[in-house]
Amino acid sequence: MFACRNGHTVNVRFVETSDRDNLRDYFRSLSLQSRHNRFMAALSELPAIELDRFIRSGEENLFTLIVTMAGTGSETIVGEARYAFHSGSLSVEFGFSVSDPWHGVGIGTALVNDLERRSFTLGAERIFGDALYSNTPIRRLARKCGYEAVANAADCKLIRFEKLLVGPQDIPSAF
Ligand SMILES: CC(C)(COP(=O)(O)OP(=O)(O)OC[C@H]1O[C@@H](n2cnc3c(N)ncnc32)[C@H](O)[C@@H]1OP(=O)(O)O)[C@@H](O)C(=O)NCCC(=O)NCCS
Repeated sequence: MFACRNGHTVNVRFVETSDRDNLRDYFRSLSLQSRHNRFMAALSELPAIELDRFIRSGEENLFTLIVTMAGTGSETIVGEARYAFHSGSLSVEFGFSVSDPWHGVGIGTALVNDLERRSFTLGAERIFGDALYSNTPIRRLARKCGYEAVANAADCKLIRFEKLLVGPQDIPSAF
C-alpha cells in the first residue's frame, strides 16, 4: 500500500491473468505521448501477443507489477512496471508507466523504490532502464532516485539510466 500525494491510497501487486482486459484498457487509456515514452514506439495499444506476455508474470524471469486503486467492487489500474532479471549479469532491466491523470503524485518514484527492493531480493547488483532522451520526466525522476544517466553511443535518441544496488538499507520501502 502507498499513500499518494493526492490523498489516495494505491496498492501494488503482480498482475494476474484475470487482469488482461483491464491492463489492455490501461495501455489504451495512456496518452499518445506516454505510450510513446513507455514503448519508445508509436503504438495505439499493446499488441495482443505482447499483452499475453505481460500477464504471464514470473515466466522466464520476467515480471509484471500493477498499481491499482480500489473502487466500489472493482480495481482501477493506475500504473504498471515490467522487469526482467538477467541472472548472467546479476542485473534487472525495467520499464514502467503511470496513468496520465495520476502523474506527479509520487507513484513513479514509489514504483522505482519498490523495483529496487524486489531486484535486490532477486540477487541483482545493478538495475537499469532505457528511455528516450527527450523524456524529461523520467530523466528527472531517475536523477532524483540516484540513477546515473549514460548516453547510448549507437543511438543519440536513447538514454540509459542505471544504479548499483548496494543494500536494502539504501532502498526506501515504498509499498
Ligand atoms: C515517468 C513517469 C513514470 C513518472 O511517474 P510519476 O508518477 O509522474 O512520477 P512522480 O510523481 O514520482 O515524480 C517523480 C519526479 O519525476 C519528475 N517529473 C514527474 N513528472 C514530470 C514532468 N511532467 N515534467 C518534469 N519532471 C517530472 C520530477 O522530478 C518528480 O519529482 P518531484 O515530484 O519531486 O518534482 C510518468 O511520467 C510516465 O508514466 N510517463 C510515461 C511512460 C514513461 O515515460 N516511462 C518511462 C520510460 S520506460
